Amino acid sequence: MTQKLRLDRLLSNLGYGPRRQIQSHIRKGKFVFSGRAISDPSEKVEVSKQALENATYEGEPLEHLAPMVIKVHKPAGYVCAHHDEDGLSIFHLLPERFRLRTPTLTTVGRLDKDTTGLILCSDGGDIIHALTHPKNHIEKEYHVTLADPLSGEEADIFASGTLMLRSEDKPLLPATLKQIDEKTCTLILHEGRYHQVKRMFAALGNKVESLHRIRVGALSLDGLEEGAWDYVREEDLKRLLS
Ligand code: URA
Repeated sequence: MTQKLRLDRLLSNLGYGPRRQIQSHIRKGKFVFSGRAISDPSEKVEVSKQALENATYEGEPLEHLAPMVIKVHKPAGYVCAHHDEDGLSIFHLLPERFRLRTPTLTTVGRLDKDTTGLILCSDGGDIIHALTHPKNHIEKEYHVTLADPLSGEEADIFASGTLMLRSEDKPLLPATLKQIDEKTCTLILHEGRYHQVKRMFAALGNKVESLHRIRVGALSLDGLEEGAWDYVREEDLKRLLS
């Protein structure tokens, strides 16, 4: 069944600002639906992409309805949380409107503060659950730079599916390491445990100097500049979840 919402509530959920301000804008005719201004904030509208295709607010097409999925090229020094002591949250890289949305936009999993690369964000509970659930085995690929040269044994140990991390009771799923040069490699994981890459190399006596996520499933940064974001297209999301 299609959901209906009061127009002022819908626009407030999409992060367009305080409800009072939205109501005043609606009364001034700033919400236009198929060429006709709807000036009653309490009017109920159908909340579907199809129904709102021809709607504009303040002259712009309406922001994505929930669920929305975006990708961000995370720089070092930013946290995957809404607040940080240093004030460097990846959500500050996004338009303010995104931070005001209901339901809240959250990261799909986390990258450490010093890790760079691809992180997804969504406001769709089911999508976040599907993207993070271990049974879906969505690959994550990292570019890793190490403090010490690779010994040559890492690929076999990581692929074995027997490596245990300290204070855990289940071995890691097999992971694929490809050496690039003496101290750099790529690593493909099928799960996401806490500080997993750093702990995997620490278990073998090495240290990760820098870590960059290249890919999540079939999604990559595709030329997205550091600090920039983009929408994940519906067809890409479907491919990711299929
Ligand atoms: N593994 C880590 O150790 N850190 C990250 O940020 C991601 C994977």
